[in-house]
Amino acid sequence: HILSLINALADSHSLSLEQYAELIEARAPETAALLAQKAVAARKAIYGNDVYVRGLIEISNICKNDCLYCGIRRSNKNCDRYRLTKEQITDCAAEGYRLGFRTFVLQGGEDPYYTDNVLCDIVSELKSIYPDCAVTLSMGERSRESYELLRRSGADRYLLRHETADKAHYESLHPNDMSFENRMRCLRDLRDLGYQVGCGFMVGSPNQTSNTLAKDLKFIEGFKPDMCGIGPFVPHKDTPFRDHPPGTVELTCYLLSIIRLIHPPVLLPATTALGTIHPEGREMGIKAGANVVMPNLSPVSVRKKYELYDNKICTGEESAQCKDCLSARMESVGYHIVTSRGDVRRQK
Ligand code: SAM
Ligand code: FES
Repeated sequence: HILSLINALADSHSLSLEQYAELIEARAPETAALLAQKAVAARKAIYGNDVYVRGLIEISNICKNDCLYCGIRRSNKNCDRYRLTKEQITDCAAEGYRLGFRTFVLQGGEDPYYTDNVLCDIVSELKSIYPDCAVTLSMGERSRESYELLRRSGADRYLLRHETADKAHYESLHPNDMSFENRMRCLRDLRDLGYQVGCGFMVGSPNQTSNTLAKDLKFIEGFKPDMCGIGPFVPHKDTPFRDHPPGTVELTCYLLSIIRLIHPPVLLPATTALGTIHPEGREMGIKAGANVVMPNLSPVSVRKKYELYDNKICTGEESAQCKDCLSARMESVGYHIVTSRGDVRRQK
């Protein structure tokens, strides 16, 4: 029966909510291996063996939000706050460009310092120095007008994980000054404005069930995101979820394979969080169907401060080391990193 579900998924890219939940419940080494095999074939048909790199620049750990899982939440008084200047950001990009990166991802907390004027200025500066590069933003929820101005300044892509497609679950992870409706509104606006859009969620977050995960999969089936960030939840010692166990590599990889089959052209990162919970987590993610890695380009002086969860990897290395390390890791499993912009291949 499970085999017929997997075949149906691979052929029609769709299952019912109940079937997604059933598939999640049926996870076992054999089902995982079959899903991974089909996911790798689906990816290979579109992207070959290429793995895309994105240079991640963590521009600020100042945040007005208080998400219960996140180490840089505003209530964490132990967090040593920083923000990068425009010069620091363009310096990181210069080093990244020299190393072959053609996508820069600017990520940060919802820091009120980054008004539309400030952020648009940074984006247009990067686009004017590096017209051959894509600029991706991951700066949280903003107004439609703001997203429109940023798009006009040259931003190409936007990452905003939906976090969970279940409203009650969303509310259990966020205080009530945040809303599920606004998160979804943002994703729709970004899509409307012509961004390549990424959604995503954590695996193993508190209160997550097979049913909430099934809703995430159904949401992804309908939304067809260009990118999708899936990584394990990892507890942070200064958050209310400090004692909650982390998500597992096995379930994360299983879901990566399912998502590849739901939407074959999706750009799917093997995340830093996956590399944090297992020494070969990112290699395992690629073997399960992922095709993107995001080495850290942030200045080494701030890396430890962008601590979303405990024991985050890559906080001590130079950008060049981090890139070389990931190249070697990809080669070790038979893949190679390519330095093109790596835009999504949209299907008709
Ligand atoms: N502020 C922006 C936003 O909310 O989209 C971008 C930065 S936010 C820190 C990036 C992502 O980190 C979130 O979407 C969340 O899924 C992930 N994250 C936060 N805390 C985490 C944790 N404890 N374990 C794993 N991932 C976490
Ligand atoms: Fe960053 Fe290995 S990928 S040091």
